[in-house]
Amino acid sequence: MSDVLPPTMRQWVLAHRPVGVATVDDFRLEAVPVPEIGDGEVLLKTLYLGVAPVMLRYMTNETSFEKPIEIGDVMIGRGVGRVAASRNPAYRVGEIYQAKLGWREYAVIDGDPYYMPFRMQHTDLPLSHGISTLAMSGFTALIGMREICAVTAKDRVLVSGAAGGVGSQAGFVARALGAEQVVGIAGGPGKCRLLTDRLGYTASVDYKNDDVPARLDELFPDGIDVFFDNVGGELLDHVMGRIRRRARIAICGRISEYLLPPEEYHRHRNLYRIGLQDAKIEGFFVYDHVPHFERYETQLADWIRSGAMRPLEDILEGIEQMPGALISLYEGTNVGVRMVRIDPGAERRTAS
Ligand SMILES: NC(=O)c1ccc[n+]([C@@H]2O[C@H](COP(=O)([O-])OP(=O)(O)OC[C@H]3O[C@@H](n4cnc5c(N)ncnc54)[C@H](OP(=O)(O)O)[C@@H]3O)[C@@H](O)[C@H]2O)c1
Repeated sequence: MSDVLPPTMRQWVLAHRPVGVATVDDFRLEAVPVPEIGDGEVLLKTLYLGVAPVMLRYMTNETSFEKPIEIGDVMIGRGVGRVAASRNPAYRVGEIYQAKLGWREYAVIDGDPYYMPFRMQHTDLPLSHGISTLAMSGFTALIGMREICAVTAKDRVLVSGAAGGVGSQAGFVARALGAEQVVGIAGGPGKCRLLTDRLGYTASVDYKNDDVPARLDELFPDGIDVFFDNVGGELLDHVMGRIRRRARIAICGRISEYLLPPEEYHRHRNLYRIGLQDAKIEGFFVYDHVPHFERYETQLADWIRSGAMRPLEDILEGIEQMPGALISLYEGTNVGVRMVRIDPGAERRTAS
């Protein structure tokens, strides 16, 4: 059994390697036939596609963990898809998977672990959560707060990039783990209001308008126990200068430095305080925790159902939006997890 399929589909390919932030001209939208599947293969109809800051670095082959992309190749990215046809007994038509689908309306996957397919377990919740809380950005928030920082009730917690995809969930996770003081850093008064009104943060720092060191001193007169950092650079240095004994710093990302050459990376003056305060600073990578994803998904789904987490999704409509959706992450126009709805009927529970 399979869905009725259209003859053609659209896909975005890499047209040029970007210099700095990409422009829409670095991508090209193509119409191609919907692929036929062979033995062992599965055709997924794309419902949603996610965007993440790291994708700019895929375009220049700057990451060690993603396969090289050539000019003319389909853009790499994860999405949520419904099985539209299957010649693999492990996949049934109608099931919902999140996987590396690429920026296209239909994708073929096979048994190759490269695609990292995970069947969504909690399909009673919106399927868009397969891009946000029940997916990499939610898992990343959980790993950083619970596995790396081991947050407890007495910790004073700080999160940078707090209104973004991962950050909009990290505050909820810290609160669910019992922390009473959870401060978020974001750019601009609108985002800072969102942190306290909608995203579970107890206070905010506006890094674009506040005197950041002074505001941190005001909010943390006795120092910081936990820092979940999405931004890196000078901000991380300010925080290291204010850590308490046995503080934990999780290095989730460094978006402020992704577009800089290494010689322009911030030189940290306060790193010595890690040793002085018997603190820990640790990077982590969500894909190193794959064996636990099923457990994480259930924990996060439970928190959503109990109201302890409220996913904030920033959904654009239509595959045409993909390049702009990615570029705008670097302009900070997103709130919460930015994604694109590829199929207007994505939330229908039957094939359209
Ligand atoms: N370790 C892992 O396994 C893992 C997994 C997923 C993501 N990450 C990392 O986590 C970070 C957040 O990812 P995300 O997907 O949640 O992205 P995101 O936060 O949804 O989007 C980027 C946000 O970062 C902020 N930003 C952009 N340029 C900035 C700058 N120069 N300085 C400070 N803030 C800046 C903007 O918010 P403002 O308006 O507030 O500036 C923007 O909205 C990224 O660094 C990403 O690479 C790591």
